[in-house]
Amino acid sequence: MVQICSMKEKEMEKLKKECLEFCYRHPLYSQGTYPVFGEGSLNAKIMFIGEAPGYYESISGHPFCGAAGKILDELLDSVGIKREEVYITNLLKLRPPENRDPKIEEIKAFAPYLDKQIKIINPKVICTLGNYSTAFIFEKYGLKDKLQGISKIHGKVFEVGSLFDSLKIIPLYHPAVATYNPNMKKILKEDFKILEKFK
Ligand code: URA
Repeated sequence: MVQICSMKEKEMEKLKKECLEFCYRHPLYSQGTYPVFGEGSLNAKIMFIGEAPGYYESISGHPFCGAAGKILDELLDSVGIKREEVYITNLLKLRPPENRDPKIEEIKAFAPYLDKQIKIINPKVICTLGNYSTAFIFEKYGLKDKLQGISKIHGKVFEVGSLFDSLKIIPLYHPAVATYNPNMKKILKEDFKILEKFK
């Protein structure tokens, strides 16, 4: 067990170094900000994938530490999951200007890092936060024919893989929606309840 953990740590450290080097040469990088690689337990059963760092994430280097992060913490708390038990990352590791939507070529450019993060962590459940990460993960796992807007598929469980090596994909609304529409928090809380089964 100790050996497995340290191998994962080494692999993730190497990947992070490569990713940061890539970030510092990427057009989205701006001086005085940090790339946001992702963080959490390398043995996490549940992995969360957001869209891209916002302002607070880009000045701290940590994912989901602004207003959307507060909501995510509250949602995790509501189902008795600690942030340290899960792994949290984003499609893009750099903040797009004015938090604009990610461009396809940006998602493609950062995809190899996310793919390797998923491979290292090997989670049982991937929760996609919002439309962009849902579309990416559905495509990656051959679920393109099941892809609909997040308002249609939020909270549903999609299973891929074999009986012995299965992965559950659960699309969720992005927590930021609850920062400008408080009614959405109720829906998010309902959807998060499904995670009690997988923690
Ligand atoms: N929104 C995201 O998608 N990711 C973050 O890390 C913060 C806000």
